[in-house]
Amino acid sequence: MCGIVGYIGTKDSSTDFVLAGLKALEYRGYDSAGLVTIDNGRLKYLRDVGRVANLEKLVKRNGHPAVATRDNGLSGEGNFSESSGQSRTSGTAAGAAQQKIDLSAKSTGGVASSAGQQASAANVSCGIGHTRWATHGSVTEFNAHPHANSSRSIFVVCNGIIENYQDLKADLIKKGYKFKSETDTEVIPHLIDHYLKTGDGFFAAFKTAIADLRGAYAIAAVYTEEPEKIYAARLSSPIVIGVGNGEHFLASDPSALIHKTKKVIFLNDFEVAEISANKAHIESLDKTRKEITQVVELDYDHEESELGTFPHFMLKEIHEAPMTIKSAIRGRVKPDIKTIKLGGLESVKQQLTLIDRIIITACGTSYYAGLIGEYLIEEIAGIPVEVQLASEFKYRKEPLSRGTAVIAISQSGETADTVAAIKKVEDYGILKLGIVNAVGSTLTRITDAGVYCHAGPEQSVATTKAFLAQVTILTEIALHLSDGKSKLFTPLLKELTNLPDKAQKVVELAPAIEILAKKYAHYRDFLFIGRNYLYPCALEGALKLKEISYIHAEGCSAGEMKHGPLAMIDENFPTFALACDSSLLDKTMSNIEEIKARKGPIIATATVGNKKIKSIADDVIYLPKTAEQLQPILSVIAMQLFAYYIAVEKGLDVDRPRNLAKSVTVE
Ligand code: F6R
Repeated sequence: MCGIVGYIGTKDSSTDFVLAGLKALEYRGYDSAGLVTIDNGRLKYLRDVGRVANLEKLVKRNGHPAVATRDNGLSGEGNFSESSGQSRTSGTAAGAAQQKIDLSAKSTGGVASSAGQQASAANVSCGIGHTRWATHGSVTEFNAHPHANSSRSIFVVCNGIIENYQDLKADLIKKGYKFKSETDTEVIPHLIDHYLKTGDGFFAAFKTAIADLRGAYAIAAVYTEEPEKIYAARLSSPIVIGVGNGEHFLASDPSALIHKTKKVIFLNDFEVAEISANKAHIESLDKTRKEITQVVELDYDHEESELGTFPHFMLKEIHEAPMTIKSAIRGRVKPDIKTIKLGGLESVKQQLTLIDRIIITACGTSYYAGLIGEYLIEEIAGIPVEVQLASEFKYRKEPLSRGTAVIAISQSGETADTVAAIKKVEDYGILKLGIVNAVGSTLTRITDAGVYCHAGPEQSVATTKAFLAQVTILTEIALHLSDGKSKLFTPLLKELTNLPDKAQKVVELAPAIEILAKKYAHYRDFLFIGRNYLYPCALEGALKLKEISYIHAEGCSAGEMKHGPLAMIDENFPTFALACDSSLLDKTMSNIEEIKARKGPIIATATVGNKKIKSIADDVIYLPKTAEQLQPILSVIAMQLFAYYIAVEKGLDVDRPRNLAKSVTVE
């Protein structure tokens, strides 16, 4: 949540880099954006509500040449070896400020990275920017970042939450500081301003201010008296420094800078950085830590994500389902030699033979994938599994034996709750595994081993293809843990390889599902039901519909209907029933009959050939026959398409649903 970018160097325009970086990070938040740059002694401070495009227009109106755009994307390695709320002032100069400043500050600092030739302050371009997902304070220009001290010499952007901001603010107000926003971030420039008065220089003041903060944050700052430097700090929110030749970059994730450099420094918790064009000096505020983060080389390439002929990224990403499954099984699933090979788990092979309990932890869609994983691992590998919401697990006080392994599932690899869940078990000496899509993200670095999803970048805030990859990989892990002993081992290996073609058949149902969506788009409530493997899948279907169409939707086990939810059913409350062939199909059919008897409209997914369901359901989406364990993968594609077309029919912003952001890096 919230994206941060920064630039310091002689090669590029900080405005260009910051704007392009903010676009790449817009998935992290998109309610307002802002930047501050210092070029040739000229300070530019611009903020606006809405998308980065609005900020871009503001920049152009304020005399900046056209700005090149680019899209987000990345594909490489972690431990997985393979105040007052004023409304915005509108108009050309909304939030704009330009002033001429003195360029006389001197460069200092030790070296973690050293890059290129010397640069003098006069030819250095410096800037930081921010795209916001509001936490404290409504969406107004005054709450948009960067925030400044009263004399506008210190500018700060922050991703995260400063939990003790009210105490700090009260102290600062007593000292005479005046606040303009409702945000927690605004305490930081004032706090630095206060500590600057001790006369020990900006970096000392920055470090003292950071040490006062409680919460989770990634912070970047600039100081007009030292325009040849930018400053950064991290605690539990990601921030990465890109090392160039005569320039350094800063971003919330590498996707915003990998087109410039593959040499990066991932800041660790409690680390602070003083960055000039040629040096990135890093210190840890945690005195117990001896090692300072080093430069690492990312070994993957920038993947452009273009819309092409698709109207939305969500539709494009749903259409990538067959390729997503292929990428998740490539080199891993080998039915001809009856082998499953998960290179990312090789380093913990021995430990895997000793586990007797698994806890899967995740949030949102990844949590629902985890619930399917529970059914898969228990049935195929015979190991007891518990799935816990990361936001609950991280605070639970439960006994964890040495034979327990924790698996974190995350598309972004940065979700604050999931990262905290893994950090909680760091000192227990138990095995920590990850199923992660974003390469090099925090989770890939704090787990012992794991399996990459290889789903490629997702631009749509509502995740689609990552879920398919997660469930495919959970099937692979279950098969791997069964060590070939499960009777399902050979049939599932084979069926996994058939799955991309079957997924393609479901994708081709898009026009028919669009017609259905038009028919059902006016309803205000929806129920999704399923049994066994299709129960967690129903939960995901409901989540997908509510997050992009804003229709109230609930997922329910078909068997639970009689225990309460059936009371809601009438002709205005449709049900989406997942009714593919299985040993429990007759029971699901009875549940559907019970809904029908109460006049509830029914759409059902069923296996090709099921004629009986046509006489009960109002509409049927026929899916290819597959193993019961793999039905969630095909069923979810149909539900994703259904949710997508309903949101389109309602004229909603499908890729950027209200109130949401893709990478949830706050609690
Ligand atoms: C729903 C969605 C969210 C995420 C959740 C976890 O479409 O995108 O529910 O699944 O925020 O995110 P990751 O998987 O990045 O940890």
